[in-house]
Amino acid sequence: MLDKLFFRKKSHEQKWDINDNIPSHVAIIMDGNGRWAKKRAMPRIAGHHEGMKTVKKIVKEANQIGIKVLTLYAFSTENWKRPREEVDFLMKLPGEFLSTFLPDLIKENVQVRIMGKKELLPIHTIKAVDQAIHKTSENTGMILNFALNYGSRDEITEAVRAIASEIKSGTIDPSQINESTIERYLMTSELRDPDLLIRTSGEIRLSNFMLWQLAYSEFWFTDVLWPDFSEDHLRQAVSEYAQRGRRYGGLK
Ligand code: IPE
Ligand code: IPE
Ligand code: MG
Repeated sequence: MLDKLFFRKKSHEQKWDINDNIPSHVAIIMDGNGRWAKKRAMPRIAGHHEGMKTVKKIVKEANQIGIKVLTLYAFSTENWKRPREEVDFLMKLPGEFLSTFLPDLIKENVQVRIMGKKELLPIHTIKAVDQAIHKTSENTGMILNFALNYGSRDEITEAVRAIASEIKSGTIDPSQINESTIERYLMTSELRDPDLLIRTSGEIRLSNFMLWQLAYSEFWFTDVLWPDFSEDHLRQAVSEYAQRGRRYGGLK
């Protein structure tokens, strides 16, 4: 029985024996870069740089597992509070990441997207992500969705504002508003809700991440710092997810 529930990797190829119960959408709060660097007496930005390497590994592994959507929390609407030097570095990372990794993403049929307040990002960051979105837009494989300058309260606020103006112009009647209406105005309108949320670094909180969308997601927390997060950790999270019973308020 247990054998059936666990994913087993074949020794000679990167395939799962059992394909059931793989989470379609995995969202990750990639946390702990700063502490990783501090432990090594390195500047925080060195941790972010190392974290970028983890992103490459995990994207490839997620694609091989058969995950359909991978959402990565890369920069929150609250992260602007950090020192200027750190923010500047973080804003350069998408460009650096994509300049080295975009050919791989294209080859692996991955489609890049972003969600967040894009217009407030520096021009060079917008250019880098726009180019990646454009060059991968025809890809039909895994969606790699970066949450960049993303905040869930901001997202919900914007949705409320948009719905209010539709009401004002008469295109929506308040009595027609239901959950699907709200979902249509969120940044995830084209995506299903995450099945599995992973947060690294031992923090047990959401930090303003996908508050609406995570209503019935399975959570998986680890003390491992993001730069140390490996393919094996992802596989462990996915295996544990496969054994959980999701009830959505009903009975099994
Ligand atoms: C996560 O690592 C990356 C971002 C938030 C951009 P942190 O920078 O938050 O690392 P810690 O939490 O300080 O260790
Ligand atoms: C959440 O991590 C944001 C990202 C991972 C991008 P933070 O490190 O910013 O969260 P808090 O401040 O510890 O809640
Ligand atoms: Mg943190």
